[in-house]
Parts: sequence; structure tokens; C-alpha cells
Amino acid sequence: MKIFVTRKIPGNHIDKLKQAGHEVEISEFDRVLTPEELLEKVAGKDAILSLLTDRINGDLMDACGPQLKLISNYAVGFDNIDIEAATQRQILVANTPCEEVNEAVAEHTWALILTLARRIVEADEATRRGGYKGWEPDVFLGTNLIGKTLGIVGLGRIGGMVARRAKGYNMTTLYNKRTPDPEAEKELGVTFATLDELLAKSDFVSMHVPLTDETRHMINSETLGKMKQGSYLINTARGSIVDEHALVEALRSGHLKGAGLDVFDNEPNLDPELIGMENVVLTPHIASGTHEAREKMGELATNAIVDTFSDKKPTNLVNQEIWETRRK
Ligand code: GLV
Ligand code: GLV
Repeated sequence: MKIFVTRKIPGNHIDKLKQAGHEVEISEFDRVLTPEELLEKVAGKDAILSLLTDRINGDLMDACGPQLKLISNYAVGFDNIDIEAATQRQILVANTPCEEVNEAVAEHTWALILTLARRIVEADEATRRGGYKGWEPDVFLGTNLIGKTLGIVGLGRIGGMVARRAKGYNMTTLYNKRTPDPEAEKELGVTFATLDELLAKSDFVSMHVPLTDETRHMINSETLGKMKQGSYLINTARGSIVDEHALVEALRSGHLKGAGLDVFDNEPNLDPELIGMENVVLTPHIASGTHEAREKMGELATNAIVDTFSDKKPTNLVNQEIWETRRK
């Protein structure tokens, strides 16, 4: 089969595709392909190994040709792919959900929480600039986590792992999801709250929902206004869950004390005002960026391709309901 890999990925997993007899073409550029380049490159391919930075819609699938059978997305999130369009065309879509990624994202979420609470970035910058003249009673005072309330919006695998770690800090944890989850409440010691209630009570609000039409800009000027005065927002999910301009306003006015952001509304661009703000910590969409997580993602993304073409149903299909009727 002919496979196009839209960008080089870490590890040796591509070799496995070649060993399985597939003809593999990897993009020659170490950057995101333009829509035109992508269109040209995928033509005639049987499978695409895509990244979350590739926009894959029905037109691209059609341009690829009727032989396209699988899109294997090297990411847990798949909002970059029009799943409905793929399913209509009986094209399989796979993603890379795994403990390694979930743990990495949960750990990064905590890195942002701790960095905000203890003002690590500001303090580091001041120290490097020669600002440390000796111990002082009132510089870079932060906030203790113990006794504070963490609000988790979206208690899926990652949200649950964030909650588990909150126990170690002796925080109270609230969560919101569509349907309350009594099992998780018992296991994680978390309490269900409506979104309004969670926003009003939490000192730290952390987002763990996928990006859908329903969640796009769910954090906006109205919901930000409902957040507790002096609280913090953390987003390691998808940037467009948060209206970034509204967030900048809430930070500027002091209603929010800070924000930890790994994802942005219009990646790779960010609101220029964020860059000048001391009460934000910004990372470039690296929450899943550990060696362990990326290794496993490569394994899952390539296994899905090898398995599909040996008529073995991959474990990580997004639209597994079309397996029997898939394009052959
Ligand atoms: C990263 O953002 C992913 O969805 O894997
Ligand atoms: C801080 O360094 C302290 O000893 O209180």
C-alpha cells in the first residue's frame, strides 16, 4: 500500500511500515504542509499518517482518491479531521490514546499549576537578571495548594489523572461532565458540580474536554465572569475551548490571577497581549511531549496502518463502527 506521512515523527516506527511491505513517503519538510502541498502529496495514497496540525476534510479525502482507506492521526485529539466526512466515505480514522499520553498531559497540567502557584517563571527571570539580592520577606509570594479547590472540566482519562494527583496536594476537587460519574467520585474523591458552581468555587480551573461545536469557546466572557475572583485557568486540551481575547480581558482586569496555557485559539499564533503578561505561563502545545508518550503515539499510529492492511481491526479506531463496511 502507498502511505504518506505528513511530517517526520520521532522513533523508528516508520521502518515497521516498510518491513510490512508498504511504500512509504515522508514529507521532505520539517514543517506543517500548506493545504495545497498536502492535497498534492496525498493523491493516490491508501493511507495517511497525519498530525494534529493537518486539516483533513471531505474535499481532501476526495482529492486523495477512492483508494484512500485509512487516516491514522498521530494525536489523541482528532478535531483536525472531519470524522463525519470520513465515516460517510467508509474511510477509517485512528488516533493514539494511551496511558503514556494521558499521564504526560496530566503531569504537564500540574507543572503549569505549580508554576503559576509559585511564580516560577517570573522568579527565574528575575534571578537570571541579577534580581536576587538576598532573602526577602515579601518577594514572589505565591499561594499554597493545600486546602484549595481544583475544578476539572471534563473528567475523562486525562481529567481523572489530574484529579488523582490533586489528592497528593490535599486539595478539594470538583468536576463537571455531561453525566455525573459515581464510580470516579468514589475512586478519585471528587465531587460533581454544575459548570457554574465549579467556576464559582474553584481556585484553579483546568480544562479537559475535547474540542467540539459544543465546547468551542465554552470559556468566554460570560463564563470567565462566573469564575472566582483571583482564580487561575489552565488549558492543556484545545485552545479554541477558550475565547482567548476574553481571557486576556479577564487577566488584565485582575479578575483572574493567572493562566497556564499549552494550547491557543489560533495556533501557532497567540494573542500578542499574552506575551507581555507576567501572570501567564505559556508552553507551545507540548503537554504530550515526553519521549515515552511520543514513542507510544508512533507505535499506535503505525500499528493501526499495519493492522488495517492485514485485515486486523486496530484497537484505536475513532469510527470503528464502519470496520465491516470499510473501503477495501
Ligand atoms: C495532542 O494535543 C494530542 O491530541 O495528542
Ligand atoms: C526560608 O528560606 C525560610 O527559612 O523561612
